[in-house]
Amino acid sequence: MNILLMGLPGAGKGTQSEMIANDYDMIHISTGDIFRKAIKDETPLGLEAKRYTDNGDLVPDDITNGLVKERLAEADVQANGFLLDGYPRTIAQAEALDANLADIDSNLDHVIYIEVDADILKERLSGRIMCSNCGATYHKVYNPPKVSGVCDVCGHTEFHQREDDTPEKVGHRIQLQMDSIRPILEHYEAANLLTKINGDQAIETVYREIRNILGE
Ligand code: AP5
Repeated sequence: MNILLMGLPGAGKGTQSEMIANDYDMIHISTGDIFRKAIKDETPLGLEAKRYTDNGDLVPDDITNGLVKERLAEADVQANGFLLDGYPRTIAQAEALDANLADIDSNLDHVIYIEVDADILKERLSGRIMCSNCGATYHKVYNPPKVSGVCDVCGHTEFHQREDDTPEKVGHRIQLQMDSIRPILEHYEAANLLTKINGDQAIETVYREIRNILGE
């Protein structure tokens, strides 16, 4: 099964993707995670991407399309199916994805859009913390680690905020992506692939709705 999980910054794409990838054995591909790792490792891709991500802007389509194309062609993705999180984000990316999938004789099964109001997104991102070791994501109030101050996944005890989660950058990211996401949703609606779900519910409730779409 091949899925796109879409939503504005803070909608819960990363949170839901982890659960889906675990339960359905799919390969989770997050363009945001790929850029953050490249930036941390100071690779040429990272140095280029940092110029954009630092300001909350989108990385240019040619760079982003190229790296997704390479990843989709890899054997694990071909064998297990993919869950794309945070891609496509422009109509040019959606068109490039259509062409890439046609090239490898593949297709999309579902496009799920997690819908959440901008005010709630801002509150979520201002309270988001990440494990400084493994990158697992939490929220100080809505989704804290099970044992306070200790990462559920790796047991590390240091956490940090993402650099693009400052109030100014969050506002910019949400506005920018609100504008670019509309034509993409129309594109997948026309292809009869799109399902919108209400993301302003408990994490488990959102996940249950996703499972209903994907099938148990
Ligand atoms: P990316 O990492 O994809 O950032 P984003 O879209 O801004 O999304 P986020 O990761 O901020 O939010 P999310 O929806 O995953 O929410 P999360 O689950 O963490 O991209 C970063 C940057 O990379 C971009 O700005 C851009 O520069 C670049 N980039 C990436 N893809 C690109 C592309 N295709 N083209 C060009 N550039 C690209 O949840 C948020 C918080 O809310 C957490 O604290 C969580 O615990 C909490 N939470 C989640 N669900 C709920 C719930 N139901 N109720 C209460 N709290 C919840």
